[in-house]
Amino acid sequence: MSPSAPTHSVPLTEAERTPPVFDALDMLATMVAVVRPDGECLFANTAFENVMGLSRRAVQRSSLYDWFAEAGRLRDTVEGVARNAYSSSRFDALLRRGVRPHEVLVPVHVIVSQLEVGSAAPRGGDLVLIELIENAQQTRQDREERTLDQVQATKELTRNLAHEIKNPLGGIRGAAQLLTMELAPTAMGAELSEYTQVIIHEVDRLQSLVDRLLAPHRHAPVVADVNIHEVCERVRALVLVEHPRGLSIKRDYDTSLPDFRGDREQLIQAVLNIVQNAAQALQSRMAAGDACITLRTRVARQVTIGKQRWRLALELHVEDNGPGIPAEIRDRIFFPLVSGREGGSGLGLTLAQTIAQQHQGMIDCESEPGRTDFRITLPLP
Ligand SMILES: Nc1ncnc2c1ncn2[C@@H]1O[C@H](COP(=O)(O)OP(=O)(O)O)[C@@H](O)[C@H]1O
Ligand SMILES: [Mg+2]
Repeated sequence: MSPSAPTHSVPLTEAERTPPVFDALDMLATMVAVVRPDGECLFANTAFENVMGLSRRAVQRSSLYDWFAEAGRLRDTVEGVARNAYSSSRFDALLRRGVRPHEVLVPVHVIVSQLEVGSAAPRGGDLVLIELIENAQQTRQDREERTLDQVQATKELTRNLAHEIKNPLGGIRGAAQLLTMELAPTAMGAELSEYTQVIIHEVDRLQSLVDRLLAPHRHAPVVADVNIHEVCERVRALVLVEHPRGLSIKRDYDTSLPDFRGDREQLIQAVLNIVQNAAQALQSRMAAGDACITLRTRVARQVTIGKQRWRLALELHVEDNGPGIPAEIRDRIFFPLVSGREGGSGLGLTLAQTIAQQHQGMIDCESEPGRTDFRITLPLP
């Protein structure tokens, strides 16, 4: 049972007790509810309770229709199924989770069907089974839009900040150099120059960091015909040279994909950053000899990128069998300076995302232990 289920200090009434015939439904990962034809909820399984963040008692006392944003369709369907107009029906709906004003709408696919439990039914037949599947497609689109907005906002901030940091760096470096020269002839010169060297070294490090922060905005793009598979092949060769042992990079290309206009070198850089991350995440698998990255290209139709809709696009998936992105940074990996690696700059994915956006495309990612999938979507002519 869900952790939020109330302790049974108050004994359940006959009506509240879960009919044992439904117990097996608790083992399902999808949300399942059993309702009467009027929508009264007789049973909701554990998955349903967990998604709604409600106790079984709270769910079971209520009407199913209270949990949906626009329940008209659902009501009609449940009634139709109950009176045998049809045996099952499917559609999309919005499930309400949480309490206003913090309510969120969860897009779900609803399957309504007749429930035949025979004589084991607690109160006769006429029950309706509701299955709800979270609509990953929709969730993914929302997430993409959020990512794009965030990246846009961060880009501005980063650019301004980088400029502000860059300006005084030249002065600091120059002063440290003068200091070194002044100190050189003195007795303490040798000792103190160690400190000035630290200053100069650190300034240089900062300098190169801000240069990389500003890099994607610096060069005018060089536009020519680009073949995505040429890009993949270049990246594949580069990464294999770097990791000659224990890593295989498979190709799964849709060779019917047309060329498109873009900046080839920049796109190589973007894909390289992603594949290099995958290779870095695969270190221990490489030692074991079964590290694998797959480069997969596919055509996609009617895709929405940001707010714009494209008839045709290409998808390049970079998939690896590594440990997955650490959960604590998973939502922020496209932000600058976010890194899960010792010594990482956290700029690789920011730059890759910027390059994809300069091509009207975008990059998103799904990750779990054992499978991380970066998807680069680029519109095609
Ligand atoms: N394929 C992957 N598997 C696991 N973690 C990843 C993967 N790709 C990226 N990451 C995580 O995202 C972080 C950010 O990547 P990136 O922006 O390239 O910066 P950096 O590589 O300098 O850390 C990485 O440090 C790593 O923790
Ligand atoms: Mg990186």
